[in-house]
Amino acid sequence: MRNAAEAAGEGGGTITLRTFYEPSLRRREGPGPGRSLPLQIEVIDDGPGLPPEIADAIFDPFVSGRETGTGLGLALAARIVSDHDGWIAVSSEPGRTVFRVSLPLAGTGEES
Ligand SMILES: Nc1ncnc2c1ncn2[C@@H]1O[C@H](COP(=O)(O)OP(=O)(O)O)[C@@H](O)[C@H]1O
Ligand SMILES: [Mg+2]
Repeated sequence: MRNAAEAAGEGGGTITLRTFYEPSLRRREGPGPGRSLPLQIEVIDDGPGLPPEIADAIFDPFVSGRETGTGLGLALAARIVSDHDGWIAVSSEPGRTVFRVSLPLAGTGEES
């Protein structure tokens, strides 16, 4: 959310929060049905999009496109999501950047 607000800059912009249930989304690692990640949370902004030169590395620590940035926000967010057996992903183009967090239901087993 803070990144989205910072991306909007002085001129302002629109941040859209979207949550939905997507029962077909699964994360597979190796054979087997994988893990269901049906809970989706999206933060969407209409800012300029990820700087292309760091777009592949934004979830790594200390990678920042801002002069006063620490580069720790997304690394921490990715770590927290991963600790919850979830998934974080981004798609970005000028005018539309979407960060999506996908999470399992609480209390479901490994192969649910
Ligand atoms: N919504 C966004 N729109 C454009 N760029 C973004 C967005 N979110 C993150 N970024 C880019 O990813 C970089 C890393 O973000 P983050 O890990 O939160 O560190 P920080 O905010 O301290 O720079 C930001 O500096 C910015 O360049
Ligand atoms: Mg940040």
